[in-house]
Amino acid sequence: MQDMPQLGIGTFRLEDNTAYKSVTDGLKAGFRHIDTAQIYGNEEYVGDAIKAFGIEREDFFLTTKVWFDHFGNDSFIESVHESLAKLKVDHVDLLLIHWPSPDDKVPMEQYLNSLAQAKKDGLTRHIGVSNFTIEQMEKAVEILGEGEIYTNQIELHPFMQNRKVAERAEELGMKVTAYMPFAVGKVMKSETLQSIGQKSDASPAQVTLAWMKAKGYYTIPSSTNPDHIQDNYEFEKVSLSADDIALIDDLDNGERIVDPDFGPEWD
Ligand SMILES: NC(=O)c1ccc[n+]([C@@H]2O[C@H](COP(=O)([O-])OP(=O)(O)OC[C@H]3O[C@@H](n4cnc5c(N)ncnc54)[C@H](OP(=O)(O)O)[C@@H]3O)[C@@H](O)[C@H]2O)c1
Repeated sequence: MQDMPQLGIGTFRLEDNTAYKSVTDGLKAGFRHIDTAQIYGNEEYVGDAIKAFGIEREDFFLTTKVWFDHFGNDSFIESVHESLAKLKVDHVDLLLIHWPSPDDKVPMEQYLNSLAQAKKDGLTRHIGVSNFTIEQMEKAVEILGEGEIYTNQIELHPFMQNRKVAERAEELGMKVTAYMPFAVGKVMKSETLQSIGQKSDASPAQVTLAWMKAKGYYTIPSSTNPDHIQDNYEFEKVSLSADDIALIDDLDNGERIVDPDFGPEWD
């Protein structure tokens, strides 16, 4: 599939058969965009689920991410081949740098050139980055040229809207992919999202996804529950008024969930 569907399924934390089942339930519900990563340790199960579902290669969009231990010149491409073998495909649709190299131990030129090489070699259709700051996105565009970086996948949910990074990404021609859109379930407890949802008999998860779409963001919620997966897929039953959107905009309090010590200096 050439273009990334706006909604995908995430697979972080899903191990073994849980990943298999979640991907299977997602495909059954109608999802055609799946997000995994080398570090999740579940590429094999994701690949098994896709294969067993029996879907044509051009009918789904698959993303994986290269971990920074594999930024060495040879190990980068080798690691992508390993991912493809586990995923049982001959290319992914999107290959991301999962995190910038901690403390720039490996120069950005080196690992971005490996990423570009993976695309030249036909191992992926698109390339992108994740957890890049504004300065890092700008540098990445200098290195690879305009229009090469398909997306920056960043933490973004109603409580951490990451506006400066999202705006700059779009100015630089990158799609914004929102990870952890539900703040790992916390959105369900928001009275604002609950009351907006009540108007269309929708869950806070569906309201959040409708807000993501209204903002022009791509997003990849995860779930292990088939009812939740179905619920998420059907978020378009929600129609948000301008007032609803403004209320959700106001939920931003900069609450970052993913902040490992190897991460960059956030904007
Ligand atoms: N690039 C990166 O560094 C990075 C970092 C983190 C995450 N990600 C990506 O982003 C994806 C999503 O993030 P995430 O999985 O951490 O968190 P999330 O999608 O914000 O939240 C997942 C949680 O929400 C619950 N949930 C999902 N749908 C629901 C619904 N309709 N109703 C009620 N609860 C619902 C799930 O519980 P149930 O299982 O019970 O439904 C689960 O506990 C990851 O899977 C991964 O692919 C990327």
